Amino acid sequence: MRTMQPADLKDRNTLSRSSKLMYWLAVILLGSCMSPKAKSQVKLDAEGHQWWQHAVFYEIYPRSFADSNSDGIGDLNGITAKLDYLKNLGVDAIWITPCFPSPQVDFGYDVADYENIDPMYGTLADFERLASEAKKHNIRIIMDFVMNHTSDQHAWFKESRSSRDNPKRDWYIWRDGKGPNKPPNNWLSTFGGSAWKFDPITGQWYYHFFYPEQPDLNWRNPDVEKAMFDVTSWWYQRGVAGFRLDAVDTLFEDPGLHDNPVVPGKNQYGDPRMQNLYNTKLPELHGVLQRLRQVADKYDAVLIGETWTKDIDELKQYYGEHSNELQMPMDFLFARVDKLSAPEFRKQIAGVNAVGWPVYVLSNHDIVRAYVRYGDGVHNDAIAKVMAGLYLTLRGTPLMYDGEEIGMTNNDPKRRGDVKDPIGRLGWPKEKGRDGERTPMQWNTDANAGFSQAKPWLPVPSSYKTHNVESELKNSDSILNFYKRVLALRHRSLAFREGEYIALNETDPNVLSYLRRYKDEAVLVVLNMSSSPQQVSFNLQPVGITASSAKTLVTSGKANRDSASLKSISLEPFSVYIGEIEK
Ligand code: NOJ
Ligand code: CA
Repeated sequence: MRTMQPADLKDRNTLSRSSKLMYWLAVILLGSCMSPKAKSQVKLDAEGHQWWQHAVFYEIYPRSFADSNSDGIGDLNGITAKLDYLKNLGVDAIWITPCFPSPQVDFGYDVADYENIDPMYGTLADFERLASEAKKHNIRIIMDFVMNHTSDQHAWFKESRSSRDNPKRDWYIWRDGKGPNKPPNNWLSTFGGSAWKFDPITGQWYYHFFYPEQPDLNWRNPDVEKAMFDVTSWWYQRGVAGFRLDAVDTLFEDPGLHDNPVVPGKNQYGDPRMQNLYNTKLPELHGVLQRLRQVADKYDAVLIGETWTKDIDELKQYYGEHSNELQMPMDFLFARVDKLSAPEFRKQIAGVNAVGWPVYVLSNHDIVRAYVRYGDGVHNDAIAKVMAGLYLTLRGTPLMYDGEEIGMTNNDPKRRGDVKDPIGRLGWPKEKGRDGERTPMQWNTDANAGFSQAKPWLPVPSSYKTHNVESELKNSDSILNFYKRVLALRHRSLAFREGEYIALNETDPNVLSYLRRYKDEAVLVVLNMSSSPQQVSFNLQPVGITASSAKTLVTSGKANRDSASLKSISLEPFSVYIGEIEK
């Protein structure tokens, strides 16, 4: 896999006395973590859960979702037109990747103005219409917050580079080189080459962890923090329910500019391999996240982290010592399980459950699609249902990626000349870039998969003829209808919404099984991750359940249509069984 370094509050009158007590306790506790000016608006339900713990999130890559004005590029009005689809699917919140004014060097992750919409995606008025229509659909909007860097076309950077004594000079990281053509140290950009670019205007070098067109902001400067925090408030006031924080671990660098340790070998760009010891994951970033959380809590907003971590201990840190940093740090350790392996997934689920509220992701616009990562080339549709049966039924919040629900495949470029993503041109053929996972959403069998009437910015793979929304809606056995059934169940089942996770049959190498239990409601999830039929049996007495059968709720196979005996459940290869334990 490619990895980059990188309840609504119920009416309070309807709450029981103990719940009221819990509510006020939580408000007081949350309030005490905040500055005197910041008033928390965080709302809890009777179980002490917040809205984002019950929501199903869905990532939209706007360039590729739906094109309303026939220019081959998706846009905000395209998203608005698809809100009914999203609601019917079972989506409660959409994260839109950057749609702000941008030269599009990194397809929007190079922001030139944080408080506007790029004309290619529409206008602020279009955003307001999207926000108001989304509200009618009970769908919240999450924006992307590109914190680490701006575009080199941002007015702040233009000022900063204009002279050494410009008031915004210190908003970015400028240093003298070690000599002519010698950058200040050995740090490398994660997108290839040195992380320093010489700027002849003032004869100094500026630092960029990503492309040279993405200069890093200097988060040690309080004016930068204030300006960036104000950006979040500006969007909260326009109805945004939270942010996905881009590249959080790259916010700070060692002010002493120590060289990073070099390790043997070369990376995909031919650069020496190194450990990013002095320019990633510096402890200072946690202070920023705590203060940003205080702003978010004023709006009952959620912060989702692009948190690439090496292990669970590192992931734990992003929740904050007092749960005062990110509510939803993404668990990429789960997405990094690179094969369909019951023991591996079991281990990852146990790990994240022990440290915080899990956030499960299978893929996104930077990661090869799950359909091909887990697929064996023959049973990909069945495997896609197993993956859905897994991450949509776990305790935690799932974050889907557009197209996953219809089994979209990667469509990697075949020739270097076709590559749009700059890292794919630089790293070809080892690194083909991320175009493959960013292709247009497949809506129907019309030209361009119904995404656009014009030639799309990226080519549609031939799989659109079978894997598209319109055709799959008509087929009760499709991946899409399976997603819909599981999501509908997730919304109506208290065991799924509120319940604990209890691992079962923990030594089974092929079948991943667990219970989700809330009070006297228990749901059994059984996932055959193997290519052979399996027979499983469950003894639930150790967890206090004496029932001997389950009422089938959702299954991807043909067996156990109505019910199953806990003594013996037959599973077809790559299949899912979900049943409610009989009371
Ligand atoms: C992570 C984003 O998901 C990716 O697409 C982008 O290139 C980098 N951060 C830089 O902003
Ligand atoms: Ca368009």
